[in-house]
Amino acid sequence: MSGALLPVYAQFPLRAVSGQGAWITDDKGEKWLDAYGGHAVASTGHCHPEVVRAISEQAATLIFYSTVLPHAGREQLADLIAESCPEPLKRVFFCNSGAEANENALGLARKVTGRQKIVSVSGGWHGRTVATLAVTDGAKYEDGARRAGMPLSVKVPFNDVAAISAAVDDTVAAVIVEPVQGLAGARDCSPDFLRAARLACDREGAVLIFDEIQCGVGRCGSFAAAEAFEVIPDVVTFAKGLASGLPIGVMVATPAMTANLKVGDLGSTFGGGPVPCAAGIATINVIRRERLIENAVMVGDRIRRAAEKIPAVQKVWGRGLLLGLQLDRPAAEVQKALFGLRILTGTSGDPAILRLMPPLSFSRNEANLLIDALRRVLS
Ligand SMILES: Cc1ncc(COP(=O)(O)O)c(C=O)c1O
Repeated sequence: MSGALLPVYAQFPLRAVSGQGAWITDDKGEKWLDAYGGHAVASTGHCHPEVVRAISEQAATLIFYSTVLPHAGREQLADLIAESCPEPLKRVFFCNSGAEANENALGLARKVTGRQKIVSVSGGWHGRTVATLAVTDGAKYEDGARRAGMPLSVKVPFNDVAAISAAVDDTVAAVIVEPVQGLAGARDCSPDFLRAARLACDREGAVLIFDEIQCGVGRCGSFAAAEAFEVIPDVVTFAKGLASGLPIGVMVATPAMTANLKVGDLGSTFGGGPVPCAAGIATINVIRRERLIENAVMVGDRIRRAAEKIPAVQKVWGRGLLLGLQLDRPAAEVQKALFGLRILTGTSGDPAILRLMPPLSFSRNEANLLIDALRRVLS
């Protein structure tokens, strides 16, 4: 234990030493099944050999140079991301985290529209920078934004089509929404709600931002969740699983949004660094070659169908491998019981929702282990 470290999240009493695929090994040599995925980050599983090789080779070649020099890896990853996103989301900016990607998206929307007001969704979670705190739901986050003098967003009720349409007027710069709300419990927006957001933004000349930090990069049925919902935003942000665990954030925008950007308008010292980009290239290649998006859909459906048959599960939220099991009892108790069986899962902002976000490579056998354990602890 270090007395120097400030507390961040409530911790599992488990010291991870190594990881392979969906398994973590602790300091006593015990193996743990990871249905938490290092917080939805271990997209290709822990320590995928191709990702490890790409990171090692790049680190031995050139650890870092900033964007003041062009770099082949950065260009290749930008092309891969642009290729993976639906039209017209084709312009890519790299930074280092999810919050930073959202901060840039909100800033770009305000710059393009010349407006300030943002509309967000109740239960939405977008980060801990000042602008992202202001659009995140929850008193402690909003207080942080208030203390910094940042105007708060207007929050509309989740999945309320009429409310989102009414909230967007010609003073609104952007609507920011997670197609599947992560922290709220993998609550998936209805396609009608996202379509209403799209229509309202088009009607009033506002920008539609999808925060896909948690639900993107193949977790919910397509590389960009937007495609699975068949609603295309003006800006989408990714982070978490994009480089299998190396820090990365990305904002992808349309040419219309970025047409007037000049050299120096965007920037980041570390964003687009060679090592995270090498990890990102390997991650996308592995996702494609091993058909991990199809796997996430197939294994996610298997877990969903089995969970729906457990009487204690009242509803299954989410898509693909971002699932929220709404329970008839506190999720924290169930998480603890699963921990006793050496299975890691997540809780959420809703005390009754247990969150599952395993690697996209989670196998049928691993899903069966999880399902059997859920049946046991919920019986
Ligand atoms: C939907 C969503 N947006 C933004 C963030 C912030 O990402 P980061 O912690 O990388 O800043 C998170 C992190 O959990 C998230 O789930």
